[in-house]
Amino acid sequence: MPYSTLLLSHSDGVATLTVNRPDKLNALNETVIRELGEAAEALAADPAVRGVILTGAGPKAFIAGADIGELASQSPLEGKHRSLVGQAVFRRFEAMRKPVIAAVNGFCLGGGCELAMACHLRIASPSARFGQPEVKLGIGPGYGGTVRLPRLVGRGRALELLLSAEMIGAEEAWRIGLVNRVVAAESLLSETEKLLRSILVQGPLAVAAVLESVDAGFEMGQAEALLLEANHFGLLSGTADMQEGMAAFLARRAPKFEGR
Ligand code: COA
Repeated sequence: MPYSTLLLSHSDGVATLTVNRPDKLNALNETVIRELGEAAEALAADPAVRGVILTGAGPKAFIAGADIGELASQSPLEGKHRSLVGQAVFRRFEAMRKPVIAAVNGFCLGGGCELAMACHLRIASPSARFGQPEVKLGIGPGYGGTVRLPRLVGRGRALELLLSAEMIGAEEAWRIGLVNRVVAAESLLSETEKLLRSILVQGPLAVAAVLESVDAGFEMGQAEALLLEANHFGLLSGTADMQEGMAAFLARRAPKFEGR
């Protein structure tokens, strides 16, 4: 499906989705949000796609936030609707049972940081700058920033970023756990793909089960989350992939998983 604000490429099971409004630092307008939602649905449903890289076009920005031009004239109900629509779209990436990694190449602000946080992992180039500057505009985050940032970096650090509107660099983002790795700008996409492929060689049903256990488990009490984990542990025992993984270990050879 052709998109007007996104680029999509495929290579041997890996889909790379690029937000493509570099002249506006890839700001998330209504069209980008709608197309991201459509793309997430299509990628989740496509059996040929085993993992996803999400990035921004151009050297300057991953995504510099929601499109401020659109926000400036919204009514209260339009604001609530915009927030709910964006939250649902970002949730599609988070809820995907295939790994989604954000490759952050520059400004990663507001909705951009919120989208990166909805991805399972984040890799940044040294020039990446992270922040939730919404309060500077007299508004708060609307796409999950107050929810995912404290869960990712802890309440104190999250509140500092959310209340001060200050930007932090890639190294500081790594130090507080907002990004998983910082890699050279020229190898950002290749290193992201390398990390993704290191996941894609694992048992795909096990990878999906881990994503589901962590995602659903976060919303549960410990006893329920442990039970969910045990159920996945049991279910995976019925798969050919588990037989193959263990047989391969015992025979000292690489496993050949078939996702069944
Ligand atoms: N919404 C809409 N347009 C945006 C935007 C956003 N969030 N962020 C950047 N742009 C546009 C600018 O208006 C400018 O467009 P123009 O050339 O047509 O005037 C273009 O992108 C380049 O941005 P510019 O501000 O000139 O780049 P800069 O290097 O001077 O500054 C930033 C970069 C990221 C510091 C600055 O653009 C910025 O603060 N953006 C807003 C960040 C923000 O508050 N995001 C949260 C929104 S809720």
